[in-house]
Amino acid sequence: MLTPTAMAFPTTLLVAALLLPLPVVFSKPTRTQSLVAIPLSPEPITTPAAAQQQQLSLAAHDVNASTLHFRLAHREDFALNATASDLLAHLLARDDERAGRLSSLLVVGNNATRPPRRRGGFAAPVLSGLPQGSGEYFAQVGVGTPATAALMVLDTGSDVVWLQCAPCRHCYAQSGRVFDPRRSRSYAAVDCVAPICRRLDSGGCDRRRNSCLYQVAYGDGSVTAGDFASETLTFARAARVARVAIGCGHDNEGLFIAAAGLLGLGRGRLSFPTQIARRYGRSFSYCLVDRTSSVKPSSSRSSTVTFGADAVAAAAGASFTPMGRNPKMATFYYVHLLGFSVGGARVKGVSEPDLRLNPTTGRGGVILDSGTSVTRLARPVYAAVRDAFRAAAVGLRLSPGGFSLFDTCFNLSGRRVVKVPTLSMHFAGGAQVALPPENYLIPVDTSGTFCFALAGTDGGVSIIGNIQQQGFRVVFDGDGQRVGFVPKSC
Ligand SMILES: *[C@@H]1O[C@H](CO)[C@@H](O)[C@H](O)[C@H]1NC(C)=O
Ligand SMILES: *[C@@H]1O[C@H](CO)[C@@H](O)[C@H](O)[C@H]1NC(C)=O
Ligand SMILES: *[C@@H]1O[C@H](CO)[C@@H](O)[C@H](O)[C@H]1NC(C)=O
Ligand SMILES: *[C@@H]1O[C@H](CO)[C@@H](O)[C@H](O)[C@H]1NC(C)=O
Repeated sequence: MLTPTAMAFPTTLLVAALLLPLPVVFSKPTRTQSLVAIPLSPEPITTPAAAQQQQLSLAAHDVNASTLHFRLAHREDFALNATASDLLAHLLARDDERAGRLSSLLVVGNNATRPPRRRGGFAAPVLSGLPQGSGEYFAQVGVGTPATAALMVLDTGSDVVWLQCAPCRHCYAQSGRVFDPRRSRSYAAVDCVAPICRRLDSGGCDRRRNSCLYQVAYGDGSVTAGDFASETLTFARAARVARVAIGCGHDNEGLFIAAAGLLGLGRGRLSFPTQIARRYGRSFSYCLVDRTSSVKPSSSRSSTVTFGADAVAAAAGASFTPMGRNPKMATFYYVHLLGFSVGGARVKGVSEPDLRLNPTTGRGGVILDSGTSVTRLARPVYAAVRDAFRAAAVGLRLSPGGFSLFDTCFNLSGRRVVKVPTLSMHFAGGAQVALPPENYLIPVDTSGTFCFALAGTDGGVSIIGNIQQQGFRVVFDGDGQRVGFVPKSC
């Protein structure tokens, strides 16, 4: 408050203020929380638990008529006989490809960077570089009648649901048996004139059989193609959802590893949530456990994805923010991220336009993606957050150099519990998401190096990745057009 005296002597006061030691006058103590600093294990990951995960079970969670649950497994569970460091390096390399693909998609729009491979019956040369790629979490689903257990990548960054099908012209190695439609009583081809067939960006017709064909191709050359069909999917506790349009891929090549296919959870017309919206509503939620918990035998937590009424009911106490849409890219879930706090103080220098979607160009904005691991922020925003974090992390010893995508790492060698500055995201509508320390400081080796697990991007779109979503139930409330975050709810 300005006293009359102060009004009279502003210059004197200003000089006096400048002479005072600034930290005493202005700075609040940095807010911290405790990180339990466990380095990566040097042991190869060949745990019995991981092996058991391959024996798929669909009986993990309760289900009732208006709700579907199923278990999620982390893809690292299946990369047996590799050390945690190997897996991390691999994951980060793949993640960079994926983030690059999502961004290039927004730049390129519907123009393919290479012509589609034409195969019998494909009439449409227009190729959409749909934002796909291998995600990091798999859902366990039964496909067909009787059900074949299948691991499907959970992907909010794409729409089409597909899986590898026998007979394979080309199938990559997957975990579990390849689904064979000839042994399923509920399998039915989709006819060429069916509206859903026409919704495919790159669909076609096998005129001899009057049967719809699909193809999804990726910027990196990966492709899945085959019959577009209607099939029954089975969830936990034998909950069945009939007549889901899926791609039955007889020709699958590229970067997909281990998963049988992909469950497209995007906002587009062909996605799984859109297909079941009339029966279950347009909402789903998932919770992703820490990516390393599945290799810790003691862990009893599990991840689930839930569709239907319970998806939102589970979100009591959630912080909600409006869900946004990009007119140029129907698939993605946009959120309006306003800024960050580090150590309890709002990060200055985060310019909001850097995080805002430009609806005319389709560039910019922030999406939530289950398939990208590391959050990517428009580079100036990332730089501001990182610099604030470095400045606040006074008790942490900065390591020289970075690791893969990360440019800010700390040497926590020999330390067990470490006080680290807090990190929060602020969204439109007042939602605040305070991240647990494991969501932004992750071990990258066996000797105690921990890196600040966010990165900058020049790709136009910022992406909130699954490392930063860990431990939250993330609610995609399509009916309410909002996204919610419930902390500590796995
Ligand atoms: C689903 O079942 C659970 C208990 O099994 C119950 O608490 C919940 O209310 C049910 N949901 C609906 C929408 O009926
Ligand atoms: C695991 O890797 C080691 C070294 O690369 C190799 O000697 C061993 O045979 C592998 N084990 C399995 C089960 O693949
Ligand atoms: C696709 O490419 C053509 C010619 O190269 C261009 O005229 C058109 O604007 C592009 N469309 C999009 C959506 O980028
Ligand atoms: C981390 O610090 C310890 C001493 O506390 C040192 O021995 C070790 O070499 C450092 N590690 C790196 C990667 O610099």
